[in-house]
Amino acid sequence: MARPKIALIGAGQIGGTLAHLAAIKELGDVILFDIAEGTPQGKALDIAQSGPVEGFDAKLKGANDYSDIAGADVCIVTAGVPRKPGMSRDDLLGINLKVMKSVGEGIKTHAPNAFVICITNPLDAMVWALQQFSGLPAEKVVGMAGVLDSARFRHFLSLEFNVSMKDVTAFVLGGHGDTMVPLVRYSTVAGIPLPDLVKMGWTTQENMDAIVQRTRDGGAEIVGLLKTGSAFYAPAASAIEMAEAYLKDQKRLLPCAAYVDGAFGLKGLYVGVPTILGAGGVERIVDIKLNDDEQAMFDKSVDAVKGLVAACKGIDPSLA
Ligand code: APR
Repeated sequence: MARPKIALIGAGQIGGTLAHLAAIKELGDVILFDIAEGTPQGKALDIAQSGPVEGFDAKLKGANDYSDIAGADVCIVTAGVPRKPGMSRDDLLGINLKVMKSVGEGIKTHAPNAFVICITNPLDAMVWALQQFSGLPAEKVVGMAGVLDSARFRHFLSLEFNVSMKDVTAFVLGGHGDTMVPLVRYSTVAGIPLPDLVKMGWTTQENMDAIVQRTRDGGAEIVGLLKTGSAFYAPAASAIEMAEAYLKDQKRLLPCAAYVDGAFGLKGLYVGVPTILGAGGVERIVDIKLNDDEQAMFDKSVDAVKGLVAACKGIDPSLA
């Protein structure tokens, strides 16, 4: 049986890391696509030459022509520009919306059966635009944000409690921005919810609040340190987890920016919610019950996403 084909649209910092991880994990053969000539070819060759050392046989190829993504099983989109210090994700909207139009058309023509994972920011608006421009079924187009935001939350919690990251589960929902909603009540250490750990004296409410805020600012903290771009290792690892769930029909329960129409009282909006990812793409949206405080935070986040979608429609009337 032929190996799955994974097309990476954008061969920058995240794209290169995605290619490396996909090859090492032998998820399939990799096409690295970019408008920059030489970059995808150079990265593909460099990673391919690590194959004998790492022991993988995945094939890698760089491309500047969309015809090379033909028949891809998975497309992961990072094309666009990242943040610089002082910028919010929303500042990228105008530039990256145009990029989503060309990427969406490329996928529509050459890889209409792919499962598409968008990483380009501002995430919730860009994944919506990509679905509109590509015309692919909504359950086959998702955004990567919740896995990354939850991973950041889990990392900070494991440091706070001095326990293995493997035993920390966490949920971050809502839009991928300042208003994201880390759900303390649904986050646990080996099943023990965080509010119980506060009661048990493992941490204080003040520390918990500070960790929630650090999670919300997790991307900006890294932009401030790197100065020339934004995070790429953890975003790439997070998208690979989602691609693997699809390719191996794992039925993982992962928070993703998915098209929600009915659940959570929403009508036709892309936003971060718990999903089941399997061979059908988003096979189910897990409509968990939020309490009043959580609902208020979620509503605020949803309003921020609606504002970005409205801004996209203002820029490109074909989306209205
Ligand atoms: N088509 C294809 N590739 C494009 C296009 C386009 N129209 N426009 C830009 N690119 C390519 C660039 O040439 C570059 O190689 O996208 C790549 C982006 O790579 P980086 O600048 O290194 O950005 P990266 O850190 O990978 O982040 C990409 O993900 O997390 C988000 O906010 C981040 O929107 C940004 C995206």
